[in-house]
Amino acid sequence: MSNLQDHHMEDAYELWTQTGWNDGYRVSLADFMKSWQASAVKKCIVQDGQVVAIGRANSDGILYSMIHDIVVHRDHRGKGLGRSIVLEVVQELKAMKVRSIQLMAAKGQAAFYERLGFEIRPNDAPGMQYTWKSAQQGAAPDAQTGDGDL
Ligand SMILES: CC(C)(COP(=O)(O)OP(=O)(O)OC[C@H]1O[C@@H](n2cnc3c(N)ncnc32)[C@H](O)[C@@H]1OP(=O)(O)O)[C@@H](O)C(=O)NCCC(=O)NCCS
Repeated sequence: MSNLQDHHMEDAYELWTQTGWNDGYRVSLADFMKSWQASAVKKCIVQDGQVVAIGRANSDGILYSMIHDIVVHRDHRGKGLGRSIVLEVVQELKAMKVRSIQLMAAKGQAAFYERLGFEIRPNDAPGMQYTWKSAQQGAAPDAQTGDGDL
């Protein structure tokens, strides 16, 4: 397990893009790098010189944190790498004593996170997200569709 550094970014970008999440966001490698550099926790697993798993968390360092971009390369799934990445990110957030650790599970992945200590918020307090396309006013970046939910 390593802290994800600048020289890992190209591999990480490719891995992340393969999930399809960038179909909506359409961010360049340069912007992907900037967004990761701004994250409080950024982890990766490198095997044979290739980044095979990534994960990160954004946080204010005190109250809130949100885990994003947990991805394991297709050829390396089912070997415990996803678990390791999530637990390492959580461990670092706990060491920072951040009070709230949240995430939005992708479709079909909630059970993966439940095994790792997360629980689904009740239906009367669900997560919500702002979507540019449903907003009544406000300027939206051209590339932002609001389709991405991670
Ligand atoms: C979700 C993902 C990160 C899991 O990574 P992985 O390395 O294959 O998972 P692990 O091998 O660490 O699995 C840990 C445990 O969770 C289980 N698990 C994995 N995916 C699961 C799923 N979708 N539903 C239920 N359980 C799951 C595993 O069977 C394993 O169980 P065990 O504790 O009995 O051994 C990986 O499938 C992936 O990258 N998916 C595409 C991107 C994605 O959707 N990421 C999540 C975004 S919210």
